[in-house]
Amino acid sequence: MTSTWVEPSNTATALLLLGRGTDPASEAGVDCPGDLPSPSDPDLVARAMAAKLALGDRVFVLGHHYQRDEVIQFADVTGDSFKLAREAAARPDAEFIVFCGVHFMAESADILTTDAQKVILPDLAAGCSMADMAVLSQVETAWDLFEDLGIAGDVVPVTYMNSSADIKGFVGRNKGVVCTSSNAKRALDWAFEQGSKVFFLPDQHLGRNTAVLEMGYSLDDCVLYDPHKPHGGLAPEQLRNAKMILWRGHCSVHGRFTLPVVEEVRERVPGVNVLVHPECRHEVVTAADYVGSTEYIIKTVEAAPAGSAWAIGTELNLVRRLANAHPDKQIMFLDRTVCYCSTMNRIDLPHLVWALEELVAGRTPNQITVDPDTSAYARSALDQMLALP
Ligand code: 13P
Ligand code: SF4
Repeated sequence: MTSTWVEPSNTATALLLLGRGTDPASEAGVDCPGDLPSPSDPDLVARAMAAKLALGDRVFVLGHHYQRDEVIQFADVTGDSFKLAREAAARPDAEFIVFCGVHFMAESADILTTDAQKVILPDLAAGCSMADMAVLSQVETAWDLFEDLGIAGDVVPVTYMNSSADIKGFVGRNKGVVCTSSNAKRALDWAFEQGSKVFFLPDQHLGRNTAVLEMGYSLDDCVLYDPHKPHGGLAPEQLRNAKMILWRGHCSVHGRFTLPVVEEVRERVPGVNVLVHPECRHEVVTAADYVGSTEYIIKTVEAAPAGSAWAIGTELNLVRRLANAHPDKQIMFLDRTVCYCSTMNRIDLPHLVWALEELVAGRTPNQITVDPDTSAYARSALDQMLALP
């Protein structure tokens, strides 16, 4: 079986081996500043329980669905990125929000919570390669080009939640909106009421899949802006004619699923339902039976009849958890090879224990803060998302 996937150009931020070295422009590779418990410490579960008990209502732990089971068991609430953003905003009394997810989620939580609250990411190396694919200076260069071409006034920027606070701030400054995989269509409906074109950041696949499969736009209505090429690799006419200007970013986890893999599972498991996340490539999503966010994937499997078969194209921790929770259904991972999100997996029980025990000791580890100016603009784009009908 051959894959046609070609890795796009390098990201602007350094890709360091996780846990080695530091890059001030990115979270990747940041060492834990503290005395991390050993992963083999048999008391880790008891220590996490004791620390949570000691902190009581002062702490609220959020867990994204892609987190490890060992971490998820300590989450006060689990969810996709949309649900977690709302949960963070709805907890003004919690002094500490411990975010078991990745950096852009913790930034969004900081933006949506009060100044008195502190958001903690147990391991600063839990970044997101997709978010790193769009940096502010690149996006500003693209916007300057739109201004030079006289189209900026027609363009509404929409950024996926999976982007840095800087990018959300840019979108808020330019009267756009944040979206997640749960509400991308609603966000695009809103955006196309404000202008005739959308500039969609940073996930080309979510943008294309939503526009083409849910809104009736054609593939020809979409152009791909490559930040590593002059003028994004696009001719002025292409930008003038486009409805969707897609940023050339992708998720390194969901980008792995291919059309041959879908065809292979259909042959191997007759009657199988293929259920994928919209971060997957267009041909994969087109070939699937069901498409939706992680929350949608969970609900679809819960509602499925006993005995049904499901090949699921999303992060492996979630697929494995679903398989364990539904032994009456045949649940399998869409790909044959392992596909964890390596940065989500950075949050493990030793880091969670360390972060909670630091809080008990009166110290605030790994606090995520967004500067007030960026925060104010990003907040307006996030509030616009939360206000979508
Ligand atoms: P959702 O949580 O919006 O489904 O996104 C999946 C993801 O990739 C999070 O990083
Ligand atoms: Fe980023 Fe993809 Fe991992 Fe989500 S699953 S954190 S989008 S790399």
